[in-house]
Amino acid sequence: MPSDSPDPALRALELRRLIERANYQYYIQDQPEISDLEYDRLLRELQEIEEAHPELRTSDSPTQRIGAPLQGRLPKVEHLVPMLSLDNAFNDDELREWAARTVRLAGEDAQRAGYTAELKIDGSAVGLTYERGVFVRGATRGNGTVGEEVTLNLRTVHDVPLRLNTPNPPELVEIRGECYMPFDSFEQLNDQRRRDGEPVFANPRNSAAGSLRQLDPLVTAQRRLRFFGFSVAAPPDVRLPFTTQWELLDTLHSWGIAIDPHRRACATLDDVIEFVRTVEHTLRAELNFGIDGVVVKVNPLAIQEELGDAGREPRWAIARKFAPDIAVTRLLSIEINVGRTGALNPYARLEPVEIGGAMVKLATLHNEKLIRDRDLRVGDWVQVKRAGEVIPQVIGPLPERRDGTEREWAMPGRCPRCDTPVERDLDQAAVYCPNVACPARQLEGLVHFVSRSAMDIRGLSYARIQQLLDAGMVRDPADIFALRAEQVASLERFADKSAENLLDAIAAAKQQPLWRLLNGLGIRHVGTGAAQLLARHFETLETLAGATEEDILAVRGVGGIIAHSVVSYFANETTKTLIEKLRAHGVNFTEPVVHRTNGRSSLSGKTVVITGTLPTLSRTAATELIEGAGGHVTSGVSKSTSFVVVGADAGSKLETARKLGIETIDEAELLRRVGLDSKNSE
Ligand code: IVH
Repeated sequence: MPSDSPDPALRALELRRLIERANYQYYIQDQPEISDLEYDRLLRELQEIEEAHPELRTSDSPTQRIGAPLQGRLPKVEHLVPMLSLDNAFNDDELREWAARTVRLAGEDAQRAGYTAELKIDGSAVGLTYERGVFVRGATRGNGTVGEEVTLNLRTVHDVPLRLNTPNPPELVEIRGECYMPFDSFEQLNDQRRRDGEPVFANPRNSAAGSLRQLDPLVTAQRRLRFFGFSVAAPPDVRLPFTTQWELLDTLHSWGIAIDPHRRACATLDDVIEFVRTVEHTLRAELNFGIDGVVVKVNPLAIQEELGDAGREPRWAIARKFAPDIAVTRLLSIEINVGRTGALNPYARLEPVEIGGAMVKLATLHNEKLIRDRDLRVGDWVQVKRAGEVIPQVIGPLPERRDGTEREWAMPGRCPRCDTPVERDLDQAAVYCPNVACPARQLEGLVHFVSRSAMDIRGLSYARIQQLLDAGMVRDPADIFALRAEQVASLERFADKSAENLLDAIAAAKQQPLWRLLNGLGIRHVGTGAAQLLARHFETLETLAGATEEDILAVRGVGGIIAHSVVSYFANETTKTLIEKLRAHGVNFTEPVVHRTNGRSSLSGKTVVITGTLPTLSRTAATELIEGAGGHVTSGVSKSTSFVVVGADAGSKLETARKLGIETIDEAELLRRVGLDSKNSE
């Protein structure tokens, strides 16, 4: 032990102060004053003192960032105040509309004190609870009301102070912000995973969310997550030392919380627009982390309170999103994927190009028509678009850059997997492999059968299913239920334990409700929405299998194409054999009553409006679900509307809902509210 401080208690105190200061300079100020070596030396000395004198170890000591692993699942925690999400503005006009609305609702004061504009970091929202300045609990956003407790993991994030740097901390506050993974850490992590033969993360956001939800904090500690704070929630009786968003950020900073260093106080909306432009076109490319917009907030907290929330979104803030990213690259080849229904889907293999922080090598081409209409040729320079999480898309070629070496492409006349002559589906502009035993169709069909929205059998990845098919252990979905442990364990890379877990998951899946089985069977045109309507109406698989087109048309929300497809599916001999095999393995063929009553009265007394095109439900199907849950559907939005279900291309109804401050939800949320989403229905 160094001789300058003989008393270990005093020395420990001093070391803690030095280490905290170094953390603050490094993580918050971005101006390290001591070397990494020196830092490690201080930390090691403190560890040694604490080992020799365990009574000197405090929970906020920097040596205590990494705790013991948890067993089982992460505990759930209810948020003090719900964690909201944000409404989006995709262009300057929408931003101006938002600002005008704040003025309509709260008067000139809503704009007089200006706006705070902050980067919208693409990570995972978390809340950090501090009691009298000490970090006691950290939670993920979860569904906004209930999140998961990830205290131990957040303790490993170096810019989460274990104690706030203030002599007068509030009694209780929750500091909210974004936990994210910088690009360099993300790349290192994926390089390491590649070397270890583990699957790589798709983007920094997923890897931040995944790292945050680890059971073992040591794993999180190695992931090098960062945090920045942007808001504060506190019980009503707690007094906070700020009155504007700008002051809030400054206060967080003084407490030792990292905040967005690029934030801008904007006197007018024009300043905001100018800032957005600079961020989008200049700053964004220089950052070491992903952002997907700028969050604009009305500055005075009193006005924020007056404006309040519209459902899950505050009226006082908006996310100004950036335009989707477009890049130009070479189209190397057009390849074909055979889907579970036999559809031949062409996709583009591209010369790898970076778009919005991700390397893009493949992109969808949708269907043959697009290739023909745009006269896309192999070897062309093409424009590729990537927006958020959606699969990159080829927009079209740049014909002026052709040099004559480009080749035209035609859809093959035979299935690339099984060589069966393809068939054309006239009304769908699609080409199909009609062979039900086509190995590509079998693989995709099984992948769909076990997927989350169908039988939800965990542990059967794409590669695993391919292994089972190659080994001849499965051919159709029913064969999955015939698998034996020793058979599975004999496969390469299958440990005894994972074989056992898999068989447990398969056994449990036999009890899934009928709608999941129906969706899993992959009947053409029957997705989750139709499967749920059919299961509710017919209650058993036998009744549905015996139904005529007319019987099926009697189900509200189900149309002629589906009715026809269902009847011809059950008339097929292969289907009949499959169903008998499933029955022999004890697979449930009924729709459990609990599941139906769950959502039956969940919307009683609610008046609901549907607008725009929903992703899977037709208008009638959605109406049927709402009415089935006791709700009432009307066509116009008014003050008495309880909420509006919004789909793509929603028009004036959405606008009216926003003006009136009526809650808007998406299809997924509707399914949850009627007790039919994948998580509630078990
Ligand atoms: S304010 C009630 N500010 O974006 C206001 N959010 O899409 C809630 N986000 O859930 C958020 N950077 O996780 C705010 N500077 C920022 C942000 C930010 C990223 C995230 C946050 C929120 C999501 C909404």
